[in-house]
Amino acid sequence: MRIIESIQEMQAFSNAARSEGRRISFVPTMGYLHQGHASLMREARRLSDIVVTSIFVNPTQFGAGEDFDAYPRDMERDKSIAEASGVDIIFAPKASAMYPRGYETYVDVERLTLPLCGASRPGHFRGVTTVVCKLFNIVMPHIALFGEKDFQQLAVIRRMVEDLNMGIEILGMPIVREEDGLAMSSRNAYLSPVQRQEALCLKRALDAVRTSYMSGELRVAALRETALAEISKVSSAVVDYAEFCDKHTLDEVLTAGAGTLLALAVRIGTTRLIDNTILGEE
Ligand code: PAF
Repeated sequence: MRIIESIQEMQAFSNAARSEGRRISFVPTMGYLHQGHASLMREARRLSDIVVTSIFVNPTQFGAGEDFDAYPRDMERDKSIAEASGVDIIFAPKASAMYPRGYETYVDVERLTLPLCGASRPGHFRGVTTVVCKLFNIVMPHIALFGEKDFQQLAVIRRMVEDLNMGIEILGMPIVREEDGLAMSSRNAYLSPVQRQEALCLKRALDAVRTSYMSGELRVAALRETALAEISKVSSAVVDYAEFCDKHTLDEVLTAGAGTLLALAVRIGTTRLIDNTILGEE
């Protein structure tokens, strides 16, 4: 496994690989890797000749007062997880190279970024699409893989790739959970042991709604109450949103059906966690 920090070197590597007819798959990350990332890397390995992952804590997707400085970083641990998961290249650029003095170009997906995390984290998706577009231009992958835990991010990236004719296949991969159901996330590292238990209220809320939906409840108002009741059993949990949307358009729905996305964002202490499920799907 090779570590590349230079943008020019990464581009030269990818140009050479492509000219030899080799297929490149790409897993963009902000590091502090976990088994969710590893599942993307293993699938990338299966699908292509070369697996590139990026480790870059992207400053433009964090708002003022968010956790950019505190975001967990551990390059040595990341290297061993990436290597064990079949990665060939870690691309780890410096922020000063990605956003040099005078930088002023951004990519904005307009409508899909309005609800859910877009509403509570203004500017977040503009930072995500900008960095992902830049990473795509540098790594030049044939395929890029993203986790479905960040469901809106995946939808926004698919839109960008289609709208800007990027010609990259985007693959969404299922949420990977801890044994007790907590969705894997680098931010779980912020949780104290007590908060780690409290955080299970997200999965319990998703499960309670799925059960109610399966028994015939389709009214979103009632399903939302079920989710909120489950979360409110944890006194420290503060709901940012509990929304029911069409999984393609992210438009709010009033009646649930197969393909309805239930998306949650909940604060446990100062840690904001997200999770989701699609009703009517496994
Ligand atoms: O999901 C993430 O880790 C980040 O948002 C991404 C896609 C790597 C962009 O910085």
